[in-house]
Amino acid sequence: MNQVGVYGMGVMGRSLAHNIARKGYSVSVYNIEESGVKLFLDSAKEEEKVNGYIDLKEFVLSLSKPKIIFLMVTAGRAVDIVIDGLKEYIDEGDIILDCGNSYYKDTIRRFNELDKMKIHFLGIGVSGGEKGALEGPSIMPSGDKLIYDKYIKDILEKISAKNDRGEPCTTYVGPNGSGHFVKMIHNGIEYGDLQIICEAYDFMRKVGNLSIEEIQKIFVEWNKGILSSYLIEITADILQKKDEKTGKYLIDVILDEAGQKGTGKWTSMEALDIGVAIPTIAESVFARYLSSAKKERVEASKLYKKEIVAQPLEKDWLDNLEKTVYSAKVISYAQGFDLLKKASKEYDWNLNLAEIARIWENGCIIRANFLNDIDNEFKNNAELTNLLVSPYFKERIESFQVPWRKTCALGVLNGVYLPVINASLNYYDGYTSKLLPANLLQAQRDYFGAHGYKRIDDPEENLIHTVWEN
Ligand code: 6PG
Repeated sequence: MNQVGVYGMGVMGRSLAHNIARKGYSVSVYNIEESGVKLFLDSAKEEEKVNGYIDLKEFVLSLSKPKIIFLMVTAGRAVDIVIDGLKEYIDEGDIILDCGNSYYKDTIRRFNELDKMKIHFLGIGVSGGEKGALEGPSIMPSGDKLIYDKYIKDILEKISAKNDRGEPCTTYVGPNGSGHFVKMIHNGIEYGDLQIICEAYDFMRKVGNLSIEEIQKIFVEWNKGILSSYLIEITADILQKKDEKTGKYLIDVILDEAGQKGTGKWTSMEALDIGVAIPTIAESVFARYLSSAKKERVEASKLYKKEIVAQPLEKDWLDNLEKTVYSAKVISYAQGFDLLKKASKEYDWNLNLAEIARIWENGCIIRANFLNDIDNEFKNNAELTNLLVSPYFKERIESFQVPWRKTCALGVLNGVYLPVINASLNYYDGYTSKLLPANLLQAQRDYFGAHGYKRIDDPEENLIHTVWEN
């Protein structure tokens, strides 16, 4: 009998199953099509104790009690269909782990449904792509803590990435859907990070008039400094790649229409529901939508003659851009963690933000040196209201503010679309403003709709209405 089952032999399923087997567990794998099982078995190393199945019953029966089954299937309806199929053969006490990018509300529903049958369901956020799944991803598990501690913790700690201090990039996140929620926020931040890098690249091309070779070298340099991260590293790699067909840089033959699978949108929807401002992340979703309206953009670009207000570039413009990217990135994380904090209160999840930053230090897509700084700031103060008011980031962001403003101004004058870099600066200016014009807004609402307003000399009092028209 084998100790662990992996359902789904797509590229992620195969990689995770190899990872588990290479940590010494005996593994049964299942796939609906034989080809997936064959691909897996053919790529297994000699030391891996593995068996493959295309018969669901045989697969489940090959597992020892309690049966531990990792689902590696595409998020959405497929997860429900797979669970329904498994229900026939599994029993009380068995454990299903959903490792896809499932919507956290679906995870809560599935958790409750399976709980009635005394089947344990854990929602597991996994980040790191194919390589991560094989060599060590960042893992965000949630569900019944006792079950996690007794049966799952050891497996996840063994297969996860390790940070610089040798600690596993996984921790118990919280109850029911919280693991998938944390993964969703990871992806929201990922959307922000990716877009910020794209805007910096565009700025270098359109404002700085740099060649791809020059931009590539800058990303290599940036990866040695404050921006050091996986996404900066892969961007440098991408900019080196040539197209075999045309001999051009591959980046120049890729259509500028961004795809998405929904996690950034869910993050933004959640922020709208709970009432948390995350304009950096939401703007990065909108930037993808706008990019997809390629035909309309092409037409509009013919209609308008863009008038550029040319400004000479200061000699330290690239240094300013690096500080801009860093600042916008901090804002993106500040918003993501703010949403985590408020959702944790709303859903009573008791999320440990320092631990979440720590498990993102390695293995996941947003891994970056500065996650260590975020981890430290939350460790120093678990009640931190916002990353922006932590001593470390306050000092940095304050000193980067002028370069950041200069970059945004140059972008605006040159007519370059920098939605996320600008939205981040706006958030910074809003968040650090003692006074905002919401007083006028309240007066307007009261004027046309008698919605009422509070007075500054009596903020706790009931809403007051004024008859505005004479
Ligand atoms: C990860 C990634 C992974 C995937 C995203 C892409 O953490 O390993 O985030 O989950 O690449 O889902 O999402 P989009 O297709 O929406 O960009």
